[in-house]
Amino acid sequence: MKKKTTAATLLAAKNAQQPQVWLTAYDAGAARMAEEAGVDVILVGDSVGMVNLGYDSTIPVTVDDMILHTAAVVRGRTKAWVVCDLPFGSYQQSPAQALKTSAHILQLTGCDAVKLEGGKPMADTVRFLSERGIAVVGHVGLTPQSVKQFGNYKQRGKNQEESQNIYDDALALADAGAVAVVLECIPEQLAAKITNNINIPTVGIGAGSACDAQVLVWHDVLGLSEHTPPFVKPYAHLRQDAVTAIQNWVADVRKQA
Ligand code: KIV
Repeated sequence: MKKKTTAATLLAAKNAQQPQVWLTAYDAGAARMAEEAGVDVILVGDSVGMVNLGYDSTIPVTVDDMILHTAAVVRGRTKAWVVCDLPFGSYQQSPAQALKTSAHILQLTGCDAVKLEGGKPMADTVRFLSERGIAVVGHVGLTPQSVKQFGNYKQRGKNQEESQNIYDDALALADAGAVAVVLECIPEQLAAKITNNINIPTVGIGAGSACDAQVLVWHDVLGLSEHTPPFVKPYAHLRQDAVTAIQNWVADVRKQA
């Protein structure tokens, strides 16, 4: 029987070259389905703001939003490791602010780890949290909370300088005590170089197949999104199936009139 996933089992899987599977989920039913399908880690991403709450970025998502969805996921899981995104504005001010937000989220939801965006500038915060017993996942490359600064969700690390910065960012987070790092939308070769030179698991999304783990957004894997990122292979087309099912029901009801 599958054991409960922990930070230690994720590291052991990296060392044994066993790819790990992370998936976002935002409610208890989805968490149960993800586990039944064999997912190792459930990420309650602040992507909830865009896929469930109707925002056009992750910026409006609040700590209370994250607590509501993460607590639901924790109620639905038994074995998966649950990571909660720290939302925009809830951790960047200082390590003390990050600790206060993380402690609040961990206490109210029962999740296992928090994730925050940013590289070298966040290393002191990651160290502060790690030294106080909090499991922290980093996130570099495309960092959606910085969309207003970059103006788009395009691939990062395409030129030499940006590529070196992302490499340094990932290694700085590992050095500060992060237990894993998400590499979002960066070239495959850069993701491979980071993965081969870092002592924590890398979790790729749009970063090629060399990473230690892969993560995707629930709606993208299942074909529930209106717009699926180009690097995603949808494994179902549930949005269209749902519209068709509802259309059929609408037609049946109208026929009875
Ligand atoms: O919010 C999220 O879903 C994420 C993934 C895209 C990694 O951070």
